[in-house]
Amino acid sequence: MSVTNFCSADAQNASAPRAKVTFQTLQEKKHNGKPITALTAYDYATARLVDEAGIDLILVGDSLAQVVLGYDTTLPVTVDEMLHHTRAVRRAVKRAIVAADMPYGSYHVSVQEGVMNAARFMKEAGAEAVKIEGGANRVELVERLTDAEIPVIGHLGLTPQSVHRMGGYKVQGKSITAADALLKDALALEAAGAVAIVLEGMPREVAQHITAKLNVPTIGIGAGSDCDGQILVFHDLVNLTFSKPAKFVRQYGDAAGLFRSAIDGYLRDVEQREFPSENESYHLPKETRAALDSSSPLRRKA
Ligand code: KIV
Repeated sequence: MSVTNFCSADAQNASAPRAKVTFQTLQEKKHNGKPITALTAYDYATARLVDEAGIDLILVGDSLAQVVLGYDTTLPVTVDEMLHHTRAVRRAVKRAIVAADMPYGSYHVSVQEGVMNAARFMKEAGAEAVKIEGGANRVELVERLTDAEIPVIGHLGLTPQSVHRMGGYKVQGKSITAADALLKDALALEAAGAVAIVLEGMPREVAQHITAKLNVPTIGIGAGSDCDGQILVFHDLVNLTFSKPAKFVRQYGDAAGLFRSAIDGYLRDVEQREFPSENESYHLPKETRAALDSSSPLRRKA
């Protein structure tokens, strides 16, 4: 049990094992006014860095459809693709909560299918929670998932799986009626058993109001600083996307610049035969080399 309750001491930054994060931890953070930290990750290497940095929650977001797989929207990514990435993240993460996004179509046809797909994320990929988009229309699903011991994170506001219904990626909840509807959705998800709710793309004031009315934590993205926590897409954080960042994104690094300069350097060195050097090559021991030289057919001819 200790392996699952505490992260291993081999984590690079940790001098002592740090307690495993659970949804109770997030609840306590909300209660104590301490910000919850969350990021997406989609592969072993980045998930490991994110976990070792001490982030509370790692979401294997369906945003991977765009930032990793190159699709225009999140809609095409499949359950099997999401499972594949969730497994890679699971292998890396010891301390943070690992949550998996349920992709478009995996919970929209029936509640039963939604529960079966969510159970796959828990059983086959080691997720500790699933995230689904939608409000009052997801209440029955959230109840059934909760009943099946699957923690559910809700997602309200600018929900990317609704891009075509919304007519684009537009900030939601800008009128009193729309803001009220979001609050009702949030309360309905909480009553159904959601353990946290992502608030995306809405006015700060609306997110603040919803956060104050809920007992469960809110995690904001493009929803201002009053949410109980914040989440960003990893590739946005490190500038590894190929589009203009959204208003709410803050870039903390330039991975694209770093990668470009490494690739350019390699290209140049290979073209100029400067890579690999003698030190980067394997060599025969001296005696073997001499024997090889004397027995070489080329040498015998000479
Ligand atoms: O897919 C995703 O990355 C998300 C988060 C940004 C909330 O849904």
